[in-house]
Amino acid sequence: MQLTDALTRRYATKAFDPSKTLPEAVVEQLLALLRLSPSSTNIQPWHFIVASSAEGKARLAKGAAGSYSYNQSKILNASHVVLFCARTQIDDAHLQKVLAAEERDGRFTTAPEIKTAAHNTRVNYLKEHIYAKKDVPHWLEKQLYLNMGSFLLGAGLLGIDAVPMEGIDPMILDAEFALNERDLTAVAAVALGYRAETDFNAKLPKSRLGAEDIFTLM
Ligand SMILES: Cc1cc2nc3c(=O)[nH]c(=O)nc-3n(C[C@H](O)[C@H](O)[C@H](O)COP(=O)(O)O)c2cc1C
Repeated sequence: MQLTDALTRRYATKAFDPSKTLPEAVVEQLLALLRLSPSSTNIQPWHFIVASSAEGKARLAKGAAGSYSYNQSKILNASHVVLFCARTQIDDAHLQKVLAAEERDGRFTTAPEIKTAAHNTRVNYLKEHIYAKKDVPHWLEKQLYLNMGSFLLGAGLLGIDAVPMEGIDPMILDAEFALNERDLTAVAAVALGYRAETDFNAKLPKSRLGAEDIFTLM
């Protein structure tokens, strides 16, 4: 699919067809999108809870409580729902895990000192966010939003319907999945599947600010 076609076709799906399930080959590509997303210094401060069973989706739907209940049917009727969880802090264990993965994947074969340099760069960035900018959770969450953006585009290119949802209660989902105990917190969810014929939003035209409002071309 051409990029512009995919960008135009994709939209925030408000009603999913509960009878349709994503093929396994598509799910694999979606998981690859999550895993291969870039992040600052390759810090990968995330974990993804992927629900495809009725039980799993019911657990996730608990997060669409109260004023977020408008998102409940999307979660329950979608084929798959991904809960994007951010790390709440980066400890040495996480830094070492990333470093070990980079070594395993062969990034330090040409010169061993690259390993130390990669680690030091990551630590220096982290320190800057701890001590100077004082925004570690915000910085880590930004990495998740970057991932979510490429995830939505990728799903669109695969012809899969999706809706991102910030309309979830992180406290409820943190408790449901004991996330805080693992230095994680729920950020947002993406429901994926196939649009229901009744979805009003599929028929509405896409609306964006005009090019003159958002671009300075020079
Ligand atoms: C970060 C983010 C959070 C969103 N949260 C919700 C949500 O909780 N529920 C919902 O129905 N749509 C949600 N949306 C969908 C937006 O309203 C939608 O993307 C926007 O109006 C643009 O329309 P389009 O995606 O159909 O092009 C969210 C979108 C983004 C990017």
